[in-house]
Amino acid sequence: MNDKFTRIGFILAVAGSAVGLGNAWKFPTLVGQNGGSAFILLYLLLTFLVSFVIFIGEITIGRLGESDPVDSYRRLAPSNKELWSKAGFLMITALLIYSFYSVVMGWILKYTATSIFSLPQNLDDSGAMFNALISNSPLVAIICFTIMSLVCFLIVSKGIKNGIERLNIWMMPSLFILLVLMVLYSASFDGFAQSAKFLLLPDFSALNSQSVLDALGLAFFTLSLGVTTILTYAASLPDRTNILTSSINIVLINVMIGVMMGLVVFTFIFEFNGDPAQSGPGLIFVSLAVLFSKLGFIGHILAFAFFLTLLFAAITSAISMIEPAVYYLVKSRAFSRAKACVAVFVFTYVLGIACILGYYGATSEYFVIAGQPFFDALDYLTSKILMPLGGLIIVIFVGYVIKKDGVYALLSPYMGDFGFKIWYFVLLRVVSPLAIFVIALRELGIVNFG
Ligand code: PHE
Repeated sequence: MNDKFTRIGFILAVAGSAVGLGNAWKFPTLVGQNGGSAFILLYLLLTFLVSFVIFIGEITIGRLGESDPVDSYRRLAPSNKELWSKAGFLMITALLIYSFYSVVMGWILKYTATSIFSLPQNLDDSGAMFNALISNSPLVAIICFTIMSLVCFLIVSKGIKNGIERLNIWMMPSLFILLVLMVLYSASFDGFAQSAKFLLLPDFSALNSQSVLDALGLAFFTLSLGVTTILTYAASLPDRTNILTSSINIVLINVMIGVMMGLVVFTFIFEFNGDPAQSGPGLIFVSLAVLFSKLGFIGHILAFAFFLTLLFAAITSAISMIEPAVYYLVKSRAFSRAKACVAVFVFTYVLGIACILGYYGATSEYFVIAGQPFFDALDYLTSKILMPLGGLIIVIFVGYVIKKDGVYALLSPYMGDFGFKIWYFVLLRVVSPLAIFVIALRELGIVNFG
């Protein structure tokens, strides 16, 4: 069976993978902490100089290998095939990310379902409500997490065209429309002008070396890089797709949605004197929930729309995390799709439960790794170590291992000869590995430049 994406299906599916919780909470949080739009410019610069370069590298492996991650690396490596095939197991990184990501999806489901009826009236109540969910009564969190996991695996079990593509084709435009409506509505508040100023007028004095690293890490995470997701989707790329323009479109959609989410979030933060530098769950689940409640009835609708948008963004990303491993089991291990889904489900489900129990007061002491709750440890391991490692392997493999002719034949029709040379010799071979190397050292605390 030829289960390939259509061209638009491919763009929406990859954009769906890219646009996710990263845009909704990592992006606004980091923008808030780094003084607004100067950070966005930096993020764009690094996206185009580094992440986008690797992104095209990962598409190259998928497109030329036309198989699951392990087999694609094996087929393309000119020698040491078995050794290189191991790089395909970086698909496990995606499963580890999925394990905690799906827990957050469960929280979002809970907020989507309840925000229409009740919202916390003040910060204390809101904090208590969030705490109840994650640390006092894990049953609700477990139920919501289970529902979301079943939904995601059900979609993936239907395959590329009938499952993943079909979902993205309606969910991504719906997400976009919901977001546009929310941006338009936020524009009726005074806080909107402040929010736009904050996001669009650069203040370069707020940047420091940490901002550079944060921007690069974010650019990696939001583009779903280095975990074989892009590779796997690109293996089902229809013929004659313009890789360059599709990739540019995907990157632009990703940034645009991040900015739109930021506009909405900061409008309410400024309107009700919240703190723009607050981070992660605090920003979305605690502050925003209270801010929405101040708007009365319409606030409930808005909160519902907001959490639903997040849920859509998260689902389209989550399915892209499980597809590589499922595809591998089907293609290289002769599993049926249904059996592969069950196997991967069991693996991620156990880890997800460990994440939930790691936050639950009564069991938290048993689910600790290196002094951190299981959830945080997985987040750290994946985004600080495994993703950069995956990126580095892609750069080395495409830049130095695969024969250049094949890569040239694939990309030069879209990039031109000169464009290809810049991409290959300057950005891929030199700039990207250096950049990753520097973040890795810095993140691991081996070097510190203030
Ligand atoms: N890009 C997704 C986001 O921004 C996260 C993701 C990481 C998706 C890795 C797939 C693989 O939320």
